[in-house]
Order: sequence, then structure tokens, then C-alpha cells
Amino acid sequence: MFEGFSNQWTAVTLSRRLKKRPLAVAVAGEKLVLFRDAQGKVSALLDRCPHRGVALSLGRVTPDGCIECPFHAWKFDARGQNRGVPLNPDAKRERLFATSVPARDLGGLLWVYTAPVSEAPVEPTVPDSLTAPGLARNYLELEWAAHWSRVMENMLDGPHVPFLHRKTIGRFVSPYLKPDSRMDIELNEEPYGFSTRGVLDGDRARDSGHLEFYRPNVMVLNIPMKGHTFRQHSICVPVSAERSRLIIVGARSFARLALLNPIFNWQNLRVALEDQAVIESSQPPEVPHPSHELSVRTDRATLHFRKFYFETLKGSSTLPARPEPATRVA
Ligand code: FES
Ligand SMILES: [Fe+2]
Repeated sequence: MFEGFSNQWTAVTLSRRLKKRPLAVAVAGEKLVLFRDAQGKVSALLDRCPHRGVALSLGRVTPDGCIECPFHAWKFDARGQNRGVPLNPDAKRERLFATSVPARDLGGLLWVYTAPVSEAPVEPTVPDSLTAPGLARNYLELEWAAHWSRVMENMLDGPHVPFLHRKTIGRFVSPYLKPDSRMDIELNEEPYGFSTRGVLDGDRARDSGHLEFYRPNVMVLNIPMKGHTFRQHSICVPVSAERSRLIIVGARSFARLALLNPIFNWQNLRVALEDQAVIESSQPPEVPHPSHELSVRTDRATLHFRKFYFETLKGSSTLPARPEPATRVA
């Protein structure tokens, strides 16, 4: 299960998308259903009823905060425990459970842990600017026809900005480029992952912003703005081998009126469309071993991600919570 992305916390969608009805999401090839219990707390189960395999997300959330299967109305609570099997008062309900995965609601996003365990060994590492008070936030959710590893590297790849984005954000960098310009990529290991920035022609005083990588799939762009906080968070969620969900969250300490959020989202969308147009063309779709592509000095940050990817995620998987069922009667 969760091939190539197991035992990780990842945001999967925006908190505001989950209201009273169950919500289906796919993560690393697994279908999950999210729902809120009677207290509004988020829960996640595999979106497959253990009875006859139908999608629990087609069912409903009961007033006591359980999810009820649409087919024969078995009821499961937030931990997947069976709370009802209609017409079978003698059923051994303790054996008829659904599989749950840990879930959290943090920073306006819903997070899941990619393993069928009752407790995650750690809590998600969430950048402060997603939760700090006093910041306005704008949220955008997109789907790309690309493997998430290519999307993630795109977000960590500063040197493409003046070229691919020459009509948008690249305009702020291009005027400083000379035909013989040189960029050095500084990179520091951090407890959460790494931070990196590009230094153009040795001019360390000119701050064009720096990137932070939060393992396994969050990039935070810190845009310099005197006396203010301005950050863009890009979360690259694996959906399947061919699809990724990209969640872009802006956080700002200025122009905080919610009315202005669509303008900030529009700007982010324009830039994302420029990236999407080229990233979806990547071959092979998943990032290959570094020796299979040609790299240069300015690829330092993306190569650093690729090292983490190959050492930690590539090939990872978890066993299902129970063996694939032979038909049993309980
Ligand atoms: S398939 Fe879910 S209750 Fe029968
Ligand atoms: Fe880009």
C-alpha cells in the first residue's frame, strides 16, 4: 500500500472542502474517504467497505459521526470500528472493522499519514506560516498530469524562474542577468529538510528570496518584503503514477482583506500554468536516478531532493492492515 510514499504525513486537500458529506481523495495510489465525527474532527478510512468492497465515500455521515456504507448500511466510527450491521444482531462486530489511517486538520489543510496504523509515530511537520495568527492566507488546489516527484523538483528549481517565467515572476530577475552571469546555489541542511537560495554573480547582498524544503513534499518560498511576511507554500501530493495534486497556499502579513485572496490566487495560477505546461511533458514521468539525466552545478537543490527521494521514498510500501480477505462469515 502507498507504494513509493509510505509512512509519511502529507496534506491531501483543503479543510474547507470537507463539510458534512464524506469526501473521497486518492493518495499514492490508495483511495481514502475523509469524514468528520460528531465533534468535527477529521477521520480517514480506506475507501473500500470490508463487506463487499464498495466505496464508503458514496455513503453518509450519521448524526453520531460514523460513516455508513451505502450498500448494506454497516456503520464505522472514526477509528474504523464497526458500530452496526443491520439485520445481523448476532454479528461479531469486533471482526468487521474498516481500515483507518491517521488524519489531522492543520493550517487550513487536511493531512493523512500513509500507513494503516492506529497512531502515527510522529506528528506532521507543518511550516509555522501555515498556522501562525495574524497572516492572511489564500488557497489554491490544482491537478497536474505528472508524477509528484517532477512537480516537487519543479518547485525546488530556482534557476528556471527567469526563463520559463519570463512573462510573470521572472521579470524581477531577468534585468540582473548578463550573458556571462553565474549562479551559485547555497544549501543548508535543516531539521525539517533543507533551505536553499541562488546567489547571482556573487552578490549575496541582493536578496531574491530563499526556498525551504520540508520533507517529504512541501516547498516554502520566502519572498523578501521589508517589514512583512510573504510566503508561498507548494505541497506536491502524489495521487497516482500519472497524477499529482498541487496545493498552493499564500501567507501574507499585508493586504490582509479576504476580498483580495482571488487576486493572489490568480497570480499563483498564472505562474503554475507556466510550470504545468512543461512539467507534464517530462520523460520519464517519474524522476530517474541522477546518473540517467545530465546535471550541472545549478541543479544542486533538485539533486538534493532526488537523493532523499531515492533513499527514503522510492520503493517504500506498507502491508495492508489485514490480509486480503478470503470470504468469511462473522
Ligand atoms: S458493502 Fe458495505 S455494507 Fe455491504
Ligand atoms: Fe516555476
